[in-house]
Amino acid sequence: MSCILKLSSIAKSFGEHVIIDNINLEIKNGEIIALIGKSGSGKTTVLQIAGLLDEPTSGSVLVNGTDCTKINNRQKTYLRRTFGFVYQFHHLLHEFSALENVMLPQMILDKNKGEAKKNAQSMLANFGLQDRELHMISELSGGERQRLAIARGLVNFPQLVLADEPTGNLDPENSLKVFSLLRNYAKTKNIAVLMVTHNHILAQKADTIFALEKGVLTKLQ
Ligand SMILES: Nc1ncnc2c1ncn2[C@@H]1O[C@H](COP(=O)(O)OP(=O)(O)O)[C@@H](O)[C@H]1O
Ligand SMILES: [Mg+2]
Repeated sequence: MSCILKLSSIAKSFGEHVIIDNINLEIKNGEIIALIGKSGSGKTTVLQIAGLLDEPTSGSVLVNGTDCTKINNRQKTYLRRTFGFVYQFHHLLHEFSALENVMLPQMILDKNKGEAKKNAQSMLANFGLQDRELHMISELSGGERQRLAIARGLVNFPQLVLADEPTGNLDPENSLKVFSLLRNYAKTKNIAVLMVTHNHILAQKADTIFALEKGVLTKLQ
């Protein structure tokens, strides 16, 4: 198993305010890491830095061995396209159907429309959304939206998925369902998942647990 992402001695401050300090984390193919911590402890900041959406104040972010603090924006965008993002509030595109939402990330990678549609349909079916293809986002339940957001995050078979409280708005039963879908996909496609969660039952099901407290990261399991 090779290391996909390595955060090495990462710190992030906003002005005088230190948000995270000396963070070290490695994630390998197929590994699922749960990141837990109180609100405001810096979890989203870690994900943003890992996803090359924000820069650390110091330290290095290595993606497949490349130090991303030393590359330009075009190269970062290229690497970011090998990642999948899943957000707590989905960020689905409301003017598009469920099917189109899962087609779009593929079109960005220049897949042809027919192929993108076929992949999106099979992805929706895997997530139990085959009857919702043509529904608009406003016509979907919270659980359906969350499954759709995960299907979209996975459709390009990214090497790494960064998920920020992907079950944050779901009841316990739906949380477990959504998590097992994510986990099965990660395992069968060898996708690494770094997932922020408040749900300790889900965290226990991850391969590794990290806890963030006052900007300091500790490995628990
Ligand atoms: N752009 C920013 N400017 C200033 N402070 C920020 C910014 N982004 C986050 N913070 C602060 O960093 C801390 C950690 O935020 P965040 O990473 O969102 O925590 P979490 O996701 O664990 O709730 C919070 O105190 C937040 O107010
Ligand atoms: Mg957050």
